[in-house]
Amino acid sequence: MKKSGNVTPWEVSGDIDYKKLLKEFGTTAISDDIREKLNKCHPLIRRGLYFSHRDFDKWLDAKSKGKRVSVITGRGPSEKMHLGHLVPFLVAKSLQDEFGCEVFIPISDDEKFYVKDKLSFEDAVKFSEDNILDLIALGFDPKKTFIFEDFVYTDIYKYAAQIAKKITYSTAKASFGLKPENNIGWSFYPAMQAAHILFPQFYRGKHISVVPVGIDQDPFIRLTRDVASAKEFDFEKPAALHSKFFPSLKGGAKMSSSEGTMITLGDTPKEVERKIKKFAFSGGKETIEEHRKKGGNPDIDVSFQYLKFIFEEDDAKLAEIYKKYKSGEMLTSELKKILIDKINVFLKKHQKRKREAKGKLGKFLLK
Ligand code: TYM
Repeated sequence: MKKSGNVTPWEVSGDIDYKKLLKEFGTTAISDDIREKLNKCHPLIRRGLYFSHRDFDKWLDAKSKGKRVSVITGRGPSEKMHLGHLVPFLVAKSLQDEFGCEVFIPISDDEKFYVKDKLSFEDAVKFSEDNILDLIALGFDPKKTFIFEDFVYTDIYKYAAQIAKKITYSTAKASFGLKPENNIGWSFYPAMQAAHILFPQFYRGKHISVVPVGIDQDPFIRLTRDVASAKEFDFEKPAALHSKFFPSLKGGAKMSSSEGTMITLGDTPKEVERKIKKFAFSGGKETIEEHRKKGGNPDIDVSFQYLKFIFEEDDAKLAEIYKKYKSGEMLTSELKKILIDKINVFLKKHQKRKREAKGKLGKFLLK
């Protein structure tokens, strides 16, 4: 069977067939029953960007029985955050809102320092500080949210060391495609991320956590699930919720910094307008006449996808836009205008909250 693109934590390329990925990774498609139970959570789930899971039914079951459950998901800062990076954190926040659970957010400044040749130590730390403010700005509950940086909260090293001892080099090599020329930081780092994923249990005792992440991060989850039940730890295997990738403006499989056209959380209204007008891949027709006659294709239109996954929360309004664009009543320029306005409202609020977040750091950071 042909592989479905190349999806690893450090590289995503080629045509991604998410159905095939379910098989290759051995994960489970999100059922209608689970979607129904998460109906009030972020639309990213009910509208299908989240497509796969591991043991999330067990997480829901534990919650329904009144047991402790938690959420853990992290960020490796090597740059300013972009819209794609919001995908796991919007869901983490909505799980917190809906189920009242604690959220743990590790910041792997060490990971990106090892992996990105050009990233200096000072910049890794600087981006970490910047990205943490973005995360706080998303509105997590300060009483139930714990953020920690690998370079600062060094307690995590104790846990990583215990995990590292349980992982052979050949397992790490097979799981992460380590190459002889990689520095040795790459081979140790998986123990750090496994420590992140098990941190809620080190910190609070045995219980089930869920990790909402892009599917690229699943190799870390597999590895962590393997070590969780070792007799030294006797932890629950963490559950996972996997998302597809939020597309790039040009319609590529994944918004990422390497494409150079991503919308960052720090963009000005003018930048947002320019990027969407210039780059957003359109499902419209060549000419206005043809578009009016034959209609556009919202299913491949990037502006529509952005509205669907993040920026238009109202199902009825989204359905209306879909209908109008498909019938040709709405032009691409009008669709883009709706998106530009929506993103700019979101970013204005976000940037204000980010400035305010500076005063709240102490409430979130583990030291
Ligand atoms: P990072 O910082 O590269 O990305 C953060 C999270 O965002 C997801 N992501 C996307 N999701 C949808 N569409 C996109 N275009 C897109 N781009 C990025 C990633 O899948 C990820 O979930 N190693 C991790 C950080 C980490 C972590 C953890 C994650 C550290 N500890 C513990 C989960 C649990 C990383 O580098 O993600």
